[in-house]
Amino acid sequence: MKVPKLQIGNIISEIPILQGGMGVRVSLSSLASAVANEGGIGTIASVGIGDIEASKHDYERISREAMVREIHRAQNLTDGHIAINVMAVLSNVNDLVRAAVKEGIKIIVAGASLPLRLPAVVEDSSVNLLPIISCGRAAKLVLRAWDKRYGRTADGIILEGPLAGGHLGFSREQLKEPEKYSLINLLPDVIEAIKAYEDKFGKKIPVIVAGGIYDGKDIARMLLAGASGVQMATRFVCTVECDVSQKFKQAYLDAEEKDIVIIDSPVGLPGRAIRNKFLKNLKIKGKLKINCPYKCLSTCNANEAQYCIALALVNAYFGDLDNSVIFCGQNAFRIKKIVSVKELINELISEIEAF
Ligand SMILES: Cc1cc2nc3c(=O)[nH]c(=O)nc-3n(C[C@H](O)[C@H](O)[C@H](O)COP(=O)(O)O)c2cc1C
Repeated sequence: MKVPKLQIGNIISEIPILQGGMGVRVSLSSLASAVANEGGIGTIASVGIGDIEASKHDYERISREAMVREIHRAQNLTDGHIAINVMAVLSNVNDLVRAAVKEGIKIIVAGASLPLRLPAVVEDSSVNLLPIISCGRAAKLVLRAWDKRYGRTADGIILEGPLAGGHLGFSREQLKEPEKYSLINLLPDVIEAIKAYEDKFGKKIPVIVAGGIYDGKDIARMLLAGASGVQMATRFVCTVECDVSQKFKQAYLDAEEKDIVIIDSPVGLPGRAIRNKFLKNLKIKGKLKINCPYKCLSTCNANEAQYCIALALVNAYFGDLDNSVIFCGQNAFRIKKIVSVKELINELISEIEAF
């Protein structure tokens, strides 16, 4: 099939691929700019981006400055499209969004719980707001709230299915039925849910699907099913340009299907990760000691949380894998080598064209 472009508001991406935001520090300026240079949309993940020690004294400022540095780096490396990913549960989410907009970012993707108040912090209508949702009902909830409260609608919707990496918008029970909640099954509901808002606001709201998209065939199938594009994350981890440590990438290459497990996160959602010493230890101990110098998640109660997810993810970034949570998508075990972003995107494009 012919590779379509992806239009989000007045932004046109040459290819229908958005690289998913990956915290902590897995997708920063290096990966995001490399994807943007290949005609896709690159995403910098804002969660946990600031230096941990310095953050103890002024979490909000240190996080903001670290994100702005990454935005500047990316802007120096590419003229392409760069998005910022925020998690709605971050205690400093509004500050990050305001700072990103101030730096000229035109795409904000918000997940990890519904970003019902996101438009309140973005007055500029040229900034495209994309909520991440997991079903038609959630899409309706967000769009209804945005319409009622702010007279605004989404500029795109990310439908993230149960095979994704990181935090998941599905219960453990639902995750046992991946077929029932497959993207192909969820997509028609979402397309139906947004229709009323496309009519009311007189614009197309592209639906971008995420979670388990592995190759060009998967992309082509989703496009034929009515998606306007795909968001992919796991495959971009094993690229030369991905910002995370080599050890993290190697953990993906070494992983077998049986090593990919569902965990509970202090964020209040299940997550998908590679089984390791940390998770085994956690299972034995039940709860690890937490020293929380700043409250990075509005949903986390440090006294009750099993472990500090921020620390576990920062450790993963640095390659201290025995003390970390290694987030990954369900298809991580299929990746066999590290390639450049250019090679990966060329491969995906050829596969779509051959479909
Ligand atoms: C290592 C890793 C970290 C992630 N971190 C975030 C994040 O910070 N915010 C977010 O909205 N999604 C996050 N995700 C989800 C991805 O952005 C993406 O939607 C999802 O993983 C897509 O599925 P795939 O990995 O199978 O391509 C993360 C995924 C991975 C693999």
